[in-house]
Parts: sequence; C-alpha cells; structure tokens
Amino acid sequence: MPSISKKGTLMPASPIRKLVPYAEDAKKRGTQVIHLNIGQPDIKTPKVALDAVRNHNIEVLEYSMTQGSEMYRQKIAAYYAKQDILVDAEDIIVTTGGSEALSFTMGTIMDNGDEIIIPEPFYANYNGFATAAGVNVKPIASSIDNNFALPPISKFEELITPKTKAILICNPGNPTGYLYSKEEIHQLADLVKKHDLFLVADEVYREFTYDGREHYSILQVDGLEEHAIVVDSVSKRYSMCGARIGCLISKNKQVINTAMKFAQARLSPPTFAQIASEAALETPQEYFDNVIEEYVARRNLLITELNKLEGVKVATPQGAFYCVVELPVEDADHFAQWLLESFEVDEKTVMVAPAAGFYATPGLGKNQIRIAYVLEKEQLVKAVQILGKALTKYNAQ
Ligand SMILES: Cc1ncc(COP(=O)(O)O)c(C=O)c1O
Repeated sequence: MPSISKKGTLMPASPIRKLVPYAEDAKKRGTQVIHLNIGQPDIKTPKVALDAVRNHNIEVLEYSMTQGSEMYRQKIAAYYAKQDILVDAEDIIVTTGGSEALSFTMGTIMDNGDEIIIPEPFYANYNGFATAAGVNVKPIASSIDNNFALPPISKFEELITPKTKAILICNPGNPTGYLYSKEEIHQLADLVKKHDLFLVADEVYREFTYDGREHYSILQVDGLEEHAIVVDSVSKRYSMCGARIGCLISKNKQVINTAMKFAQARLSPPTFAQIASEAALETPQEYFDNVIEEYVARRNLLITELNKLEGVKVATPQGAFYCVVELPVEDADHFAQWLLESFEVDEKTVMVAPAAGFYATPGLGKNQIRIAYVLEKEQLVKAVQILGKALTKYNAQ
C-alpha cells in the first residue's frame, strides 16, 4: 500500500471532536448528551444576515474576488474604525473562516522548521495549522492560578532562537477566557519589535468582553504596523459558524501580497457567505448588548455552580465563552470518556473537552477540562449537577 505522509501521521486529532464516537454511542443508547465541549453558540444568527441571503438576485453563482469583495472589505474597514482600529480595505483579505486566515498566516511568515511561541493552553487547532505548515510550536505555560494571564516576558525571551518567527496570542482566549490588558499587549509589542518578530493575534472573540473590560487590539499599537497580523472571523461574532467567513488583516504590504498568493491558489472565499457577512455588519448594537448580557449571566451561574463542587478550581473568564476547569481527577481524558460510556443521571450525561489537547507541553492540563458556556442557563445548571455527581462516583470507584 502506498504510504501516507509523515506530516499526516503527525497531524493531531481535535481534542474537541475525538470523543464524538462515544457521544454518538451514548445517544444510540438513549442517553441525552449535554454538549459543553464545543464552541457552537446557540444564539440566533442576526436576521439581517439571513435575509440578505434569502433576498438575493444572483443568477450565476460566480467566483468572488480572491481577496473578498471590495464592498465587503470597505465595510469591514469601517467596522474596525468604530473599534479605533485604523485599516484600509487593501489591508484585508477575506478568508474561508478564521481557520484559513491562520493557515495563510503560517504559510506567509514561516518556513519548515521555524518556531512560533504560543502561551498555552491555546486553541487546539493551532497545533494542526503548525503541523501542516511544518512549523514547531514553542509553548509557554500560563497558569489557572492567575486566570491564565500573560506569562512573564522573560519566559518568552528564554525561548527566542534564530528560528523564532512569531508569537501567537488569542485575545480573548479560547480556552482560557483571558482578556489581555493594554499593558500586556504593549509588553508583547516591545518584545517583537526588539527581536524583529511577527505578533499574530487571533481576535475572533473581540466583541465578547465582560465586566466593563475593553478589548485592545494589536492593530491599535503605534509602530507595530510591520509586525502585526490579526486573524478574525464572523463565526462567533454573529453566531455564523457555518458561513465560513473570516479575514486576515495586516498593514504590512509584504504580508498581504504574500498571503494573496496563498489566497489565489484557493481562488476565492464563498459568495453567499460574504453576502451574509456583509449584511451582518448592519447588526444593531442591541443584538450584541443582549448576547453579552446572556453570556455574562451564563458565566456567573456556571462559575458559581462549579465553585460549589469539592476539589474543583475554575479560572474566571473575562471574555469569549469558555473556561478551563481543574478537576479532582488524574486523567480528565479518561474521565470525559467514562462520562459518555458509563455514567448518566436521569438518562442524561455531559460531554466536556479534556484540556490536555490545548497544551503543547506533554503532561500539562491532564486534570483540566474546557467548558463552553454556549447553552441556556437551565442546561448549564443541570450539566454541572451531573458533573458533580459523576465526580463523586468516579472517585469512589
Ligand atoms: C480561537 C479561535 N480561532 C479561530 C477559530 C476558527 O474559527 P472559524 O474558522 O470558524 O472562523 C476558532 C473556532 O472555534 C477559535 O476558537
């Protein structure tokens, strides 16, 4: 049989999806699975976006422009201007989700064997994009004890080698929910300028910040124009994960010109989804106010309920809609599988994402899980109750 690539063998399976077969088996047995494992919001997509697709007059579904439609990119630039981020339509390439923006970024700035420093735990698919690009991830552990704040800059400096090309952050963080402060962003900005590196920020959760805290983008830092690359997406902002639209933004012309070559190879982003995404920019502020109010209520409830469980530690998220939870178990991977295979309360169980897959350092996060609070409050309370009972039974075995 012809052999598959070494790269293919090294590609990590998604820690979020790898338990799916066990969940499917549980469902076949008649057990209801409450999904705390995946960041698929239950919030309705804005009506303006769906109406734009319903009311189109397209007769030929053509390719769009490689970099995305001119009108859409101009409107994205106007959206950023409202957030005090000054970019032009030419600084933006529309992509097939933030995912494609991440893979274009890796391809644009990194060669085989180059290194990228990422504070861990991080969005697990960064491992996949790095592997696909032949890039080595150099993790720096952040800690649940300070809500996963930025590790000391000295730790980053220790990891920088001649092969280091970039630092990648997710702000606010998936899975941590941590929102980097303006000061932390400036510390990183100074560091990348000092060592002539790129600073890549995945800002797909920008709108989701809580307790009066404001998001500060790396594109707001003066003098960082040649270093900053932002990855963005409509997936979570407008609860439009299935649209598959995102973008890559940089003031660095060489970055944009090179990323454009990757974009040309895949021809263009999807046409209907751009129509929906352009219309979504008209979403009234009230929509976001309501969504944020809902997430804050869910977060508060979830944290309160989790804190009632013995031996459980949880970081309080200030943004996004995830939290990392430390459990009184040795192996959260095993526990998560056991929940699906061997446990139920009133024919219900919960599915969580074991956190080890969000770390690149072997052994870290083994007793942690990630919970996505994308379910209604009643469901969340029920899920935590099930988790509590499960922990008692699991640890009594
Ligand atoms: C941090 C982060 N970045 C990027 C993505 C990719 O999003 P999409 O490709 O749907 O835009 C996700 C999806 O969950 C994410 O959580």
